[in-house]
Amino acid sequence: MSARTVLVAGSANLDFVIRASHVPAPGETVLGRDFATFPGGKGANQAIACARAGGAPTRMLLALGADPFAMPIENSLRSSGVQLDIVRCPERPTGTAFICLSDDAENAITVAPGANSSLRAEHLPDLAGIGALLLQLETPIETVEAYARAAHAAGVQVVLNAAPARSIPASLLSLLDVLVVNEGELAMVSGVHGDVTQALARIDVPCVIVTMGARGCVARYQGDLLQQPAFTIDAVDTTGAGDTFCGTLVAAMGRGESLPRALREASAASAIACSRLGAQSAIPTRMEVEALLATDGARP
Ligand code: RIB
Repeated sequence: MSARTVLVAGSANLDFVIRASHVPAPGETVLGRDFATFPGGKGANQAIACARAGGAPTRMLLALGADPFAMPIENSLRSSGVQLDIVRCPERPTGTAFICLSDDAENAITVAPGANSSLRAEHLPDLAGIGALLLQLETPIETVEAYARAAHAAGVQVVLNAAPARSIPASLLSLLDVLVVNEGELAMVSGVHGDVTQALARIDVPCVIVTMGARGCVARYQGDLLQQPAFTIDAVDTTGAGDTFCGTLVAAMGRGESLPRALREASAASAIACSRLGAQSAIPTRMEVEALLATDGARP
């Protein structure tokens, strides 16, 4: 039987990236160096990571404006093999993100959602043939919940990457099969600060995964705690590392891999993504991930 399609529903942005010695403090002006634009947005990054990870066909529901910023995003998704359901929004600009990237690979990101705010419940395509739905929080939360509800009712696995950080209604949490968060997002969702184990115990979702950068990730699944160390890399740009993790994870699970194996693949992919510039431009292919896995690094 062929793998069932992964549907990613969420944001797509054009990223405006300036590299500088450091990220400016409030009120500070920093003279940066080079400037470049990259296709980005959490949803689109995750769709590309899923498609490059291979195994399951990937489809994406997204909203774009009728401006020149839409085309690079569309091209990037299509050339990675993502099948698109595009909602065209002439009344709103394509989503944009303004990113300051420092020499020590830190970043500060401000997003203008634009067309991403136009995604509504009625835009969700028919879910026949969809095995998993991957969501994030750069689109309206009511829309995210409506999509999760429809997928849950249709027996589709629902995965939420709760980024950017915000609190999540219990009505949405109850629809999830898998929740992926970083430590800040975990604190927002659980209300527990500084204790990952306690915070994990508070969240009533069957599988919760916490990514912790260079300290790897932890998953709580069926009462067990799984640990996955990080792969060692020289970080250049961490933009999109979490997205790469999520897309790769869902692709691996869609291929029928065990959770420990899926966590290892996702960690390897996000490590490679951190070693390159840009969001989608940095996401590795399956072959690159397999090559890093073959080095046998980051064994739990
Ligand atoms: O997660 C990284 C992404 O966050 C960037 O590509 C930017 O567009 C913002 O959405």
